[in-house]
Parts: sequence; C-alpha cells; structure tokens
Amino acid sequence: MKTFTEKEIEQTINEEYLRLGLPRSPAIGFDHIYHEEQKSNTRSRSEIQDFSTQISPHVRINIPILGANMIDVTDEKMMIALAREGGIAFPPQFFHIAAIGSMIDKTHRAECALIEKPITVRPEKTLKEAKQLMQQHNIKGLLVTDNARRLIGLLSSKDWQYELDETKLVGDLMTSKEKKRLITAPKSVSFADAEKIFLKHKKEKLPLVDGWGKVTGLITARGLFYNRFYPRALRDEKGRFLCGATIGVGRHLTKTKLKEIEYLLEKEVPIILIDTSRAWAINMEDVLKATAHLIRHIKKYANIDVAAGNVSTWGGAKFLIECGADAVKVGQGPGSQCQTRKTGTGTPQITAIIECSVVTRLYGKYCWGDGGVKTPGDIIHAIIAGANAYMLGKLIVGTEESAATAFPNKDGDIRYKTYRGSASVSVQQERQAQGNLDYQRRPEGFKEDVPVFGPLKWRLNDLLHGISSGMSFFGAKTVSELHEKGIMRRKEKE
Ligand code: XMP
Repeated sequence: MKTFTEKEIEQTINEEYLRLGLPRSPAIGFDHIYHEEQKSNTRSRSEIQDFSTQISPHVRINIPILGANMIDVTDEKMMIALAREGGIAFPPQFFHIAAIGSMIDKTHRAECALIEKPITVRPEKTLKEAKQLMQQHNIKGLLVTDNARRLIGLLSSKDWQYELDETKLVGDLMTSKEKKRLITAPKSVSFADAEKIFLKHKKEKLPLVDGWGKVTGLITARGLFYNRFYPRALRDEKGRFLCGATIGVGRHLTKTKLKEIEYLLEKEVPIILIDTSRAWAINMEDVLKATAHLIRHIKKYANIDVAAGNVSTWGGAKFLIECGADAVKVGQGPGSQCQTRKTGTGTPQITAIIECSVVTRLYGKYCWGDGGVKTPGDIIHAIIAGANAYMLGKLIVGTEESAATAFPNKDGDIRYKTYRGSASVSVQQERQAQGNLDYQRRPEGFKEDVPVFGPLKWRLNDLLHGISSGMSFFGAKTVSELHEKGIMRRKEKE
C-alpha cells in the first residue's frame, strides 16, 4: 500500500478547503455552514432518482443511509427494512456473538429468493411445535421431510393459519408430495425457470430436491419477484438482503475474539464493522489487523470488506486505513445521545469529515459519517464534505421497524420508543446483566423517549425528497456529483 506523508496530507486538506470555499479554521459543525444556490440544469427534483453510493470496495448501496449499530435502533427488523429500501444496517456489537449471528441469519432468510438451508420439520410433530419453530426463525412455512431429509410435503401458511387445533399433526395438515399437489424443481434450476414455474402454478414456494428426493434448497416467489415492489432493495448474488456484521475491540485480542471474528466472516456478509468510540488505539490495531489478515489469507473471505471507527481526525483515519480498514467511520461526539464532548474530545463533524475523507480518497478508501443528522440538509453537507454515506440513529429509531419496543404515553394517543446512547447508564446496566461489561463507566450518553413516526419507508421517503431537493440546487444528479459540485459557506451558528 502506498502511504502518504503528513506534509502531503496537510497540503491536500488545505486544497480541499479551498475547493469547498471554506476557511480551515475555526472548526465547523453541521450548524455552521450553508450552501449558496447555483445555476442548476435540473428542471424538477423528480429527475433525481439515483441515490446510490459506494461505501467500500465491494459494497454499493442504493441510498446513502446506514443503520446505526445501537441496541435500540437495529435488530433484524431494521436490517431487513433498511435493505428493502436500499440502505444497510449493522447489528449492535454489545450482544452475545450468537445473537448477532442470529440477526444476520434472520435477515438472510427474509424474503430471500434462494434459501440454501431451509428449515424442515418432521410430519409427526404437532402444529404447536411447528409454530414454535417458525416463530423462532421468523418464517411462515416449513418443508416437511422424513428422517433421511427426503421431501414429503410443505407446511405453508395456507395449510396452518386457519387451523385452531394445535394438536393436529404436521403430516395431516401439509401439502403433500405423495398426492402430487407439491411442485418441486431440481437443485440446478435457474431463477428464470423458477419464475416460469411460479407463474404457471401460482405457488409461493418451490422446494429444490436432488436425484434422491432430498431437500437441497427452497426458492420463494416473494424473494424472486421482490424487486418489482422494492426496486431499491439491496440483495447479494444469492438473493438475500444485504446487511453488515459488527464486532467490538475489547481490551485484548483474545482467542475468543478471533473465533468471534471468524464466526462473523462465515456468515457471508459483505462487510464487517469494527466499532469502538475511540478507534485510534492499540486494541483497535490488534483486532483490525487480525481481521484484515484473515480476509487477505483465506480465499473464501476475499470479497469481504472491513470498516472501522470511530475517529474524527485525519491522523485517526490514516491509522485505521494503514491497519487494514476499507472504510472509516467518522464521528466523535456529534450524535444526538452523545456526551463524549463532555470529556473535551471530538472534532466538530464537518471538519472531521472533510479531513478524514481527504485521507480515505488519497488511499482509495471510503468515508462514513456517523451521528448528529437532524435534517436532509445535514446529509447534503456531509456528502459535500466527503462522506460516502451517513449512519443514522435518532432519525430512524422512531420508526416501527427499529429494535426498541413502542409504548403509549399516559393518554394513550402517542406511542414512544426509548432511545439510549450506547454509553448511557441504562445500556451499561443491560451489558452488565449480560456479563459483557466489567464495571460501569461514567456515562457518555443519555436516553430519551422519541415519538413513533411510522414505517421506516416514510422516514426514508421524506429524507430522500429533502436530499433530492438539496441536490437540485447544485444540478447534481448523483451522490458523487453532489460531492464534486457542492461548495459551502461558513456562517455564525443560528
Ligand atoms: P444520532 O445523532 O443519529 O447518532 O442519534 C447515532 C450515533 O451516535 C453515536 N453514539 C454515541 N455517542 N455516547 C456517544 O458519545 C453514546 O452513548 C452514544 N451512543 C451512540 C454512535 O456513533 C451512533 O452511530
């Protein structure tokens, strides 16, 4: 890897400030800047439909939005909902590694075109047992197999959802292969042929079997026809929703930590985020280098990218990239629940993004902004400053799909969700109860109740309308054009 000297980086940063139309000091936060209108070649903002952006060497997303790896923001519901709309969410690292793995599995299984290892049930099980299994895996149907994993039927939602007697046996309720009511296909069937079979037979699920009749996979109509309903949905080559994996750094790089990293790499996610609030640190160096080493040396992991954060200076960004990061997450203290700045540390966010993104571009890497977005205009500022995408917490925690549970206010007319900073007393207590925090630190985050706004789709539509309006003032048709064309002016905080 070609490295850059301090002098080269400083010079490029100065040039970037000139290009943006900003003085280098004093440092700039979201509220210190505005954009002047420019002659635009956009007739209507509806012309702007392409919000796609590259966030790492192998990952391109369709809207510049990342879901925060926070306990109240992201679990599998948010991971699925955001992928449907074209963004990508990261599970919180504070859970047991198996819980993180389960969120990824559930995301991969949801509305997936090809499920390689479908969940199966034996015919002698009761409906009650089958329902428990479906609930555990967040699915609505099961393949029914004999003890040699040969397919004998399908228990679809049509077969069980009107049945009140839960003691009935799966074998008596299922659509059976014997009675020739079940359509199957060989495991080599193409998606195009599967589509024809679905159209002809009007079925929802197509089990795949080998020459011995053993189950080898399952194609779902929902997964296959999905892009017609959600054109921005993000899927991998197997038709699964895209999501990230997340891991913390801990105090030392232990054998357990290494096993956890490998466990996540085995999950076939396109990107793994290594997250800690203070990433320019030796414990990050150990974990990041070990992860990058595994990816470089084990062929099956070769297409997985690594993101790391958080930092807020160019020195921190350079450090992470030289340890192996493909993307750098930037933000120390701008977040809505943050109290890190009470320690006196943390560069104002626009300055942090400008200076870190100069480094990520020099090295051919990617910059993610994180924390503090209140309006679409803040995302525009961040993209012009150099962010390839932005991580959101507060703006999406008040949606139906966020991980927090909604509760009504005392009059019962508004629902709220509690949003806790990751370093708040409440999250620290939860982590202690789970046994993954040794002692409580001085809180660097707080909690608040946020009203429930509606489905994530509404929130994102609102944001994208705002972003396209902002882009139209520069005549920018894409996210990268916005970065190239945008200039900023400094103002006093309003
Ligand atoms: P927003 O503003 O979108 O920010 O809610 C989400 C980001 O805030 C960071 N975060 C914290 N920062 N103390 C902090 O100083 C905390 O307790 C805390 N919790 C979250 C994090 O980077 C997240 O993505």
